[in-house]
Amino acid sequence: MNIVIIGAGAIGSLFGALLLKNNNVWLIGRKSHISAIKKSGLVIEDKTQLNVKINAEESVDRITSFPDLLILTVKSYDTESAILEARKIISKDTIVLSLQNGLDSVDKIKKFVDCKKIIAGVTTHGAFFYKPGFIKHTGKGTTILGELNGQKTKRIVNIVDTFNGIGIETIVSKNIIRDLWTKAIVNSSINPLTTFFQCKNGYLLKNPILEKLVEKVCMESTNIANTDGLNLSYDEMFEKTKEVIRNTSENQSSMLQSFKKGKKTEIESINGKLVEIGRKHDIDVSLNEMLIYSIESLIK
Ligand SMILES: NC(=O)c1ccc[n+]([C@@H]2O[C@H](COP(=O)([O-])OP(=O)(O)OC[C@H]3O[C@@H](n4cnc5c(N)ncnc54)[C@H](OP(=O)(O)O)[C@@H]3O)[C@@H](O)[C@H]2O)c1
Repeated sequence: MNIVIIGAGAIGSLFGALLLKNNNVWLIGRKSHISAIKKSGLVIEDKTQLNVKINAEESVDRITSFPDLLILTVKSYDTESAILEARKIISKDTIVLSLQNGLDSVDKIKKFVDCKKIIAGVTTHGAFFYKPGFIKHTGKGTTILGELNGQKTKRIVNIVDTFNGIGIETIVSKNIIRDLWTKAIVNSSINPLTTFFQCKNGYLLKNPILEKLVEKVCMESTNIANTDGLNLSYDEMFEKTKEVIRNTSENQSSMLQSFKKGKKTEIESINGKLVEIGRKHDIDVSLNEMLIYSIESLIK
């Protein structure tokens, strides 16, 4: 399969290095990372150990053939600019996969790409951009890919088989929109609190007051989801959130990592989107709103 990955950061580089085993892969990323890859190859350390020679460019202009699969792994706030650039290499047969977090990435892609071409995914792999040319694979996880309409099509099965074939454990989702919501609810309950309190994920369950806060945010986010037509169990969502905290107890959330690097966070696509949807339905969004203000207060 010909694969182009737009957004060669932590997760995009990891998937690129793994997919290279059986596929022709191009990574599109920023100058320092691309130069390091061109010079010494792409190094993956920790849970996966690889040093691969991989096609890497700063833009899609050097790509001469249309990819079968274009994977978007930019942060949610970069989706529109990335897809606008990538449009030139999207043919009538190219499938566009968003492997991003957030509740608005797919909608942003839909503005520029026919929605029939788009599929979405959620991954629990953990990756960390250590330095240009070097990625740490901090946690092995599973990946779920699905058609937006939930159908088990030939093309989704083919892509899932391709991922499994090179060792990325992947399953077909029957409801990827629900999976994206679930991940957003979990992230809404963990990421801003760990950023505000500058703590590892595990501390949220070590401190009983913070655990209570996690529960309250999780309930509010689940309520927003359900009012918008999802049918999620409050208890299951809180259990799932606690499970993620336990499994990543030693990790710093992606939001805390971005904050520490002085970079923008994905809060607008997670808590921000929840607030927007909740307000539309005229229901309580005060905790998510407070979390947004709290993170803004750290930055301003
Ligand atoms: N890392 C994880 O463990 C993990 C796990 C699951 C899901 N995710 C999700 O996956 C997405 C990516 O996360 P990440 O941690 O991999 O982020 P990341 O390390 O910041 O990688 C994204 C990279 O794409 C670059 N970029 C942005 N626009 C671009 C463009 N138009 N062309 C080429 N490169 C571009 C960024 O550069 P600049 O930042 O310098 O602009 C950055 O280097 C997020 O939605 C995240 O929530 C991540």
